[in-house]
Amino acid sequence: NAFSQAPQPLRGRRVLVTSGPTYEPIDPVRYIANRSSGRQGHAIAGALAQLGAEVTLVSGPVNLPDPARVNVVRVETAREMLQAVEAGLPCDAAIFVAAVADWRAASPYASKIKKEGSGAPTITFEENPDILATIGHSDRRPRLVVGFAAETDNLLRNAQAKLERKRADAIVANDVSAVGGVMGGLDNTVHLITKAGVEDWPRMTKDEVAERLADWIAVKLGDGG
Ligand code: CTP
Ligand code: CA
Repeated sequence: NAFSQAPQPLRGRRVLVTSGPTYEPIDPVRYIANRSSGRQGHAIAGALAQLGAEVTLVSGPVNLPDPARVNVVRVETAREMLQAVEAGLPCDAAIFVAAVADWRAASPYASKIKKEGSGAPTITFEENPDILATIGHSDRRPRLVVGFAAETDNLLRNAQAKLERKRADAIVANDVSAVGGVMGGLDNTVHLITKAGVEDWPRMTKDEVAERLADWIAVKLGDGG
């Protein structure tokens, strides 16, 4: 009821969350992006705040309200996202939910590319920084680092490889192969992968995934482990 006080196991803990897509410019009016809605990341930021954490949400462009009691930092590109995350350190835990564009245009055009005269443009890409891997290997690494893995094939094997490569404590793996499914949708079926093994979670809403993950994070930060 309105008078009940929710337990606040994360009081005094600082947590960073990334969410949403990134936009990588091609010219002043065009960009490369992806289908991430930001729903899962925003829900996680909100759920952590509900448990009392001091949450900074670094978000790419999304059409969502700011979660209650969360400090939201808005960015567009992967490089801006990395900067904002580094500015948020030190923290106790960092949860990387953003669908960061893997590549950006190597030299975005300074003015709008015109159809006339030049034919179809060729865009050369270069790799973006891996924000999770950078923080996972950093000497300012938070005590708990959690990543997500959106896969269409070999879900568990790919997610396990990401756990190692990015030095994460856990990877939340989800199968995004269904068109019109997870990306942009309301539900999620995930597997929590740690060094200890794989937990299969039942299909639930993104809000429920967020609450369950926030509870798991509270337990991990409470353990001293
Ligand atoms: N991630 C990140 N920075 C990037 C790419 C990914 O922080 N430049 C994070 C995501 O937020 C997610 C995790 O890394 O938590 C896995 O993202 P994913 O796209 O599945 O992994 P990649 O390493 O980019 O591999 P690929 O897209 O080739 O599967
Ligand atoms: Ca990727």
